[in-house]
Amino acid sequence: MKIYCSRIFYFLLFIIFFSTSVRAQKIEGLALTPPMGWNSWNTFQTKISEQLVKDIADKMVKSGMRDAGYTYLVLDDGWMAMDRDKNGDLIPDPIKFPNGIKAVAAYVHSKGLKFGLYNCAGTKTCAGYPGTRGYEYQDARFYAAADIDYLKFDWCYADGQQAIESYTTMSKALAKTGKPIVFSLCEWGNNKPWHWAVHVGHLWRTTGDIGVVFDGSKKLGDWTPMSAMRILDFEDSLRNYAGPGHWNDPDMLEVGKGFTPGEDRAHFSMWCMLAAPLMAGNDLRTMSVATTSVLANKAVIEIDQDKLGIQAYRLSKKDSLETWMKPLTGGSWAVCFLNRSKNDRPVDIDWALQGFTDTLSHRIFNSVVTQYKIKDLWKNKNLVNTTQKLKTIIPAHDVLVLRLDLLKS
Ligand code: GLA
Repeated sequence: MKIYCSRIFYFLLFIIFFSTSVRAQKIEGLALTPPMGWNSWNTFQTKISEQLVKDIADKMVKSGMRDAGYTYLVLDDGWMAMDRDKNGDLIPDPIKFPNGIKAVAAYVHSKGLKFGLYNCAGTKTCAGYPGTRGYEYQDARFYAAADIDYLKFDWCYADGQQAIESYTTMSKALAKTGKPIVFSLCEWGNNKPWHWAVHVGHLWRTTGDIGVVFDGSKKLGDWTPMSAMRILDFEDSLRNYAGPGHWNDPDMLEVGKGFTPGEDRAHFSMWCMLAAPLMAGNDLRTMSVATTSVLANKAVIEIDQDKLGIQAYRLSKKDSLETWMKPLTGGSWAVCFLNRSKNDRPVDIDWALQGFTDTLSHRIFNSVVTQYKIKDLWKNKNLVNTTQKLKTIIPAHDVLVLRLDLLKS
């Protein structure tokens, strides 16, 4: 009996040990809504500096971006020197960051913002700077000491590495520091992180790099980026995997970088419908009023940041006109009509004929039983309610985003 009991004891001990060792201990509660901020890569690549960070931080405050929810200022690839120091520690590039990285983090924090950095799970970053492979715990201590709040972790020079293992190790290393650091996985969806990263990171890239291409496939120099619409099509199949604390990341925003005004609205609206992390990637220093009005549209951002954290789904698709639905807290819905065609498209909706059930949230839409008031979020205008038909035209590559709130009689 005694031997039997001790066998059970050791068996239980083994199970506890095994389950805690394969399950990363990411710090929970850090990204209960999709993270929002700005990242240097899309505009500046490796041409970054302390002065740039200061200018961007100032502009995040002055433009109202911070108050609209953009919290993280993230330096992407290129912040390091080409080699580690003699102790194996990372060194910030002394020319770009003459006062070190901690001073930069302090400046960003003094503006009421949070600060993030980038590295890679492989031996080098994609731009050839020192990668983290074999230095996970040492680098995590470096980040904690530098007082960073966010780490984007890429997947270049990672031949022979297992993604689950590499990202889990880094997740554990970060958690061990005790410093709350949002962990952003960037292996482009190669290893389907939505299946294994819920306890490893707070967001994971689902696809390759986005470019200023709205739809289809177009070469930019020697590179063929993912278009916004191709990414969107891919995300549609992943909605079951996102939720508070763990988000699908369709890549950073290209708003203000060359799309038409309608395309900027469409791209931004769809990212909000997807409950995507909203990382602006444009040059905030020279941002136009029109761009600011897209990025800082609080009503549309509210759709993204809704506490339920449910990604939208495509209800219908016909003649390049799509209807996407996102259940929101309090029984509300966001509805986005997306015109992907190069021509105007009419919308003619009898809400009473639109009954359906969302299989993920189990939310029923039946406007015969439940009526909603309607607001056009880009025009900031209340429309009539769902007892009446909606008839309008959506211009090419543009959207109509509606918020439907319960009509209390
Ligand atoms: C990869 C990532 C990009 C960016 C660059 C930096 O391509 O997907 O988002 O971080 O590396 O080199």
